[in-house]
This record gives sequence, C-alpha cells and structure tokens, in this order.
Amino acid sequence: MRIEFIASDSSPSGGGVAVMAFEGGRLSTAAEAMDKATGGAVMRAMAASRFAGKPGQTVELVVPSGLEVERLTVVGSGPQGEWGGDAAERFGAQAFGAVKLSGSATLTLMAPGATAEDAARAAFGATLAAYRFDRYRTTEKPEKKPSVETVRVATDDPKAAEAAFAPLKAVADGMCFARDLVSEPPNVLHPEEFARRAKSLESLGLEVEILGEAAMKKLGMGSLLGVGQGSRRESQLAIMQWKGGGDSQPIAFVGKGVTFDTGGISLKPADGMEDMKWDMGGAAAVTGLMHALAGRKAKVNAIGILGLVENMPDGDAQRPGDVVTSMSGQTIEIINTDAEGRLVLADALWYCQDRFKPKFMIDLATLTGAIIISLGHEYGGLFSNNDALSENILSASKASGEKMWRMPLPEAYDKQIESMIADVKNTGGRPAGSITAALFLKKFVNELPWAHLDIAGTAWRKPSTAPISPDGATGFGVRLLNQMVADSYEV
Ligand code: BES
Ligand code: MN
Ligand code: ZN
Repeated sequence: MRIEFIASDSSPSGGGVAVMAFEGGRLSTAAEAMDKATGGAVMRAMAASRFAGKPGQTVELVVPSGLEVERLTVVGSGPQGEWGGDAAERFGAQAFGAVKLSGSATLTLMAPGATAEDAARAAFGATLAAYRFDRYRTTEKPEKKPSVETVRVATDDPKAAEAAFAPLKAVADGMCFARDLVSEPPNVLHPEEFARRAKSLESLGLEVEILGEAAMKKLGMGSLLGVGQGSRRESQLAIMQWKGGGDSQPIAFVGKGVTFDTGGISLKPADGMEDMKWDMGGAAAVTGLMHALAGRKAKVNAIGILGLVENMPDGDAQRPGDVVTSMSGQTIEIINTDAEGRLVLADALWYCQDRFKPKFMIDLATLTGAIIISLGHEYGGLFSNNDALSENILSASKASGEKMWRMPLPEAYDKQIESMIADVKNTGGRPAGSITAALFLKKFVNELPWAHLDIAGTAWRKPSTAPISPDGATGFGVRLLNQMVADSYEV
C-alpha cells in the first residue's frame, strides 16, 4: 500500500473517500462540503443508521450522486474538541479497515484543517491497519483480498505532512518488520534465519554481529546453550548497534528469541502449541525497535541483543534436574525445561552489561503464562529495579498507547527460587509465576537500572480488537520503546 499527501482543495474523484463526523452529529468541514454536494445525503445516511459519531462507527454511501467517487465513508471520530493525535490515527486506521475490501483501489482521507502532524498520524494509522502477512497464501478468494493500493491524505500542507510522516514511517516499518518475524512459521524462522534477518538490517546503517554456539561456549553461556541443546538448529546471539549518539553512553535492549518453544523434555500439551512460534516476540520487538531507530536516524547509541534458540525435546536435550553454569558464574538447577526464556535472558543480559556497560537495560520477553492470568491481553507487565526508568517507560506507554502496568518485585518471593543444590532454580512454582521469573532475571543484572517487560499477553492478538492491529502479531514494544527513546534519551 502506498501513501501520498495531496492538497486538500483538489476535490477528490474516483475511489473511496473518507470524512469525519463527530459525536452529537457535527460534521467535519470536508464532510459538510460532501453533504452539500450530495444534497444532504450524508446527514440523511447518518440519520438512517445507528450512527452517533462514536469511534468505531462508520456509514457508507455508495456512488452518491453529486460526487465523482465510488464511495464515501463517514467515520465516527468521537468528540470534536478532542480530535487530533490518537483520534487522527484512528481515523486513518478505521477508514482503511472500512474500505480495504470494498473494491476501490484508492482511498482519500479528507483532513483539511488538520495540522501536518495529525495528517501524518492519519497516514500512520492507515499504514498500520494495512499490514498483512500473506507470504504463504497461494490462493485466496478475490473478495478477501484488499483492493486499496493507495491511500491519499488530503491536507492543507502536503509537504509539511510528508515531512511529519517520515519518522512515523520509520516506526511503522519497524513494527511491520517485527510483525513479520513473529508471523513467520517456525520451520522457516529458526535461530540462524532470525540472525540473518537481523544481519540484513546492516543496510540501514546498523552494525550487526552474530555469535554461534562455539563463541558462546567460550564465553561460558551454559544457561542459554542448555536451552538449545536438544535442537538440530544452532543457537545464535545477535548483537545490533545503532551509533547515532556521538560518544554518549549506550542504552540497551535485550530480547527473548525462542523461535519455537515445545517446552523441551517438560513437553507442553499439543493443544495450542503452534502458538509457541510467537515465543520470539521479545527479540522481534528489539529488532523492530532497532529498525525504527536506524530508519529515523535517532540521536542515540542503542544496543539490541537477541538470544535466539529453539527449545526441543531430544536425546541430547537438557533434563529437569540438570545443573548449568551461566556466564555470570552462577549455577542454575533446571526444574522445568519449559521455563527456558529466563535461561536465555540470564546469559544475554549478563553479556550485555559486561560488554557495553549501558546506561540501562530493558529486556522484552514472552516469558510467562502467568502474566496473561494477571493482566490478560491489554497490558504488558513491567518489572524494574529503578523508579526513574519505570516512570519513563510508563509515560511512553501512555503516549504510545502500548499499555504497561508496573508489577511488584520484592525480595520476599526469592525463597521460591532457592535451589537445594545450586545457586538458584529456574522455576518458583505457580504462585506469582511472573514475579519469580523476574526475580530470577534480576540475579543476572548488577547495579544498573533495568526493566523487564513480560509481553506474553500482548505480542499477538487472536481476534482483532483494535483497527491499527489486524489479527496476529502486534509488534508490541517497538512503538513503546521508540517513544521512550525519543522522549527521554536522545542527545
Ligand atoms: N513461552 C512460555 C510463556 C508463554 C505461555 C507465552 C503462554 C505465551 C503464552 C514460557 O517459556 C513458559 O513456558 N513458561 C512457563 C513457565 C513455567 C514452566 C514456570 C509457563 O508460563 O507456564
Ligand atoms: Mn517455555
Ligand atoms: Zn517460552
């Protein structure tokens, strides 16, 4: 799908056109003009429908007489006084969703009077709504294929809107790159393929190194390597660097990249196991974030580290009862081989702080089923040893719409992960499962600000609930952390 910005005085012809109507029956200026041109058909269509101008509502007029368009879509846009920002984005997303299968090849979003920033946000909304993962479809019913190929935003100052769209486009590209990674099937996206895709981002100006099993063995990463031990696929560690911040201290992001989680010897039940291709959602978010930062040439030094493994049962696989030695030197008793994400992160986090001495580290991981019990699919769980870092994440969360909730991280739960024979064990039982997982990670973080984002419930979405995010991979985390970097860490 292509985006174009055009001058709003050119009266649209052909294709689909979208205008806004607000709560209380008020029309936008463009909608009013269309209403006049059609002899009042817009108002009559609204009155004949259960349309109250609420977000989510639309009314469609097909080939309205008086206009040279295929369809006019009136998009409920909420209270008029509150329009802009998120509502602008929703306008683009909702209009695209309403028109995408209609048969029209173009969609013009009428945004005269809107700021350049809001016109760009409308384009951003349409871009995110247009995401689709169709690489593996060889046949599809024609009526299920999106027809809209071009979205035009009609705005007072197309040049300014286009300039405002550039950084948003970088974020959308990063989100869609992450969504693609999450959507890929696990036979295709194994650790080495993931590493290759990370490496491909060198074309954006990132520096990317890949470590294989031999290099990780030398570093003493027994915790990460134990997880991949049963897999035919070689485990990988990808290290991405974006150097846009001069000689400032870097910030770092670490992602859990389990390209498939069978549970290992502690095998998961068959029902729904296919969802565990999504167990690299944290690593995908880190990759998408680095993509976004490089794409908009962010003035920051950022490190992205991905722990890439496949968790499989096998004659060589790690057993419950095994003891492994992590890069930190701490020994870990494996109680359940399905609690593998924390084992991967233990070494990736240690490596990150050891090599880069970052200002802070944030890890992202589809770490626990328990966070879904706590927070469902609306909020991700935030665990941190630092209030200032948490505040920055939470305010970026509010600004970006990717919702996070801070969870407690008290030492009181530490006793649940005490081992009889090693320094720590890898599970703490069912009670407070997300907290004990986070406390486990904390043992591999020294005295630097650190946050852990448990995104098991938010990395994907089964039935679509938001127009900007079609079913499946959300790319959750990219937008949030890009916002945080932009608001708090650029030089
Ligand atoms: N990848 C899972 C967590 C998960 C579960 C993500 C459901 C998304 C949906 C993780 O590796 C896992 O298996 N965790 C176990 C930990 C337990 C064995 C302590 C869990 O949550 O059940
Ligand atoms: Mn698991
Ligand atoms: Zn897992």
